[in-house]
Amino acid sequence: MLITKIYKPSEFNEAAKELRLGELVAFPTETVYGLGADATNEQAVKRVYLAKGRPSDNPLIVTVSSLEMVKRFVPSLSKEVEKIIEKFWPGSLTIVLKIKDGSLSKTVTGGLKTAAFRMPKNETTLNLITALGNPIVGPSANSSGKPSPTTAQHVYHDLEGRIAGILDDGPTDVGVESTIIDMSTEIPTILRPGAVTAEEIEKVIGKEVYSDKHKVKENEIPKAPGMKYKHYAPSAQVLIVNKDNWNSALQWANENKNQVGILADDEVLSKALENKTYSLGENVESAAKNLFAGLRYFDDDNQIKYILAEAFPEEGVGLAYMNRLKKSAGNQFYNK
Ligand code: TXA
Ligand code: MG
Repeated sequence: MLITKIYKPSEFNEAAKELRLGELVAFPTETVYGLGADATNEQAVKRVYLAKGRPSDNPLIVTVSSLEMVKRFVPSLSKEVEKIIEKFWPGSLTIVLKIKDGSLSKTVTGGLKTAAFRMPKNETTLNLITALGNPIVGPSANSSGKPSPTTAQHVYHDLEGRIAGILDDGPTDVGVESTIIDMSTEIPTILRPGAVTAEEIEKVIGKEVYSDKHKVKENEIPKAPGMKYKHYAPSAQVLIVNKDNWNSALQWANENKNQVGILADDEVLSKALENKTYSLGENVESAAKNLFAGLRYFDDDNQIKYILAEAFPEEGVGLAYMNRLKKSAGNQFYNK
């Protein structure tokens, strides 16, 4: 067992020292906390899979602090890629690009000829990567299958004793993981929805971007490999509640007080007087920010068998919110 140290943002140099030694350090981003290892150190990267219990065919994001770092691995950048980098970095857009043969280990790429690059909007983490001088891999810093961590405490809960340290920069802002866009194909394709939307990207590159809205059959849009695994699952069964079903759902919750928790906005919660509750705040942005912490909250109470969770319209960040919520619920809705 390692002793997991908690670093303040100003201690990024200490954290970089651990990374240089091949150790793992969790880092803050604007979306969720990531689990960092030097992306050019294959032994260190292997330990990331072990620490998370992550399936080894699921490739990792390469987290950079400069465009130069991307250019070490990518033969050339198209005009379109340059435009979206210019517009959205640092920020919540991860870009899949073809890489130079053998420039990153199979442990990072899962054997693909592409890699996913991201520059997060967090100064502490950009300092950390620059101090290391190499990009770091950055899967979410949770045990595989659990909700992604949005605080250093979530990371500590899941990974204490398995990693050297956590760089603590408080709760994250966005709360759901970055948008992933595949720019290695002829038609740019969204592989995972996040805070940056297809429409915003279309505006910047002036051409159509594929996303779920074009989907005819379930399998038509290729997904990021990691999207096929069980995800974001708390101990209780999540049931998604559509707007029109809250009256009935709250009545059912009230009849089963001790077993039903409620994860909803303040307006809904004002009517749920007898149940254990967690607030999603007042709009879809705060809901995205609070979702994973809320799912984790109910794990502390083993009487809770069901979590009623609020549905939001699938537009803007609502698309990413509903994508994560449906996975955590195994697509189960509350039906009266
Ligand atoms: O916001 C985020 O992106 C967070 C923070 C920590 O940066 N990271 C994150 O990493 O969500 P992770 O590993 O939990 O999710 C990365 C996803 C996985 O579904 C993986 O399969 C996909 O990215 N991925 C990685 N490389 C890929 C590639 N070359 N092609 C397609 N998908 C890829
Ligand atoms: Mg993850």
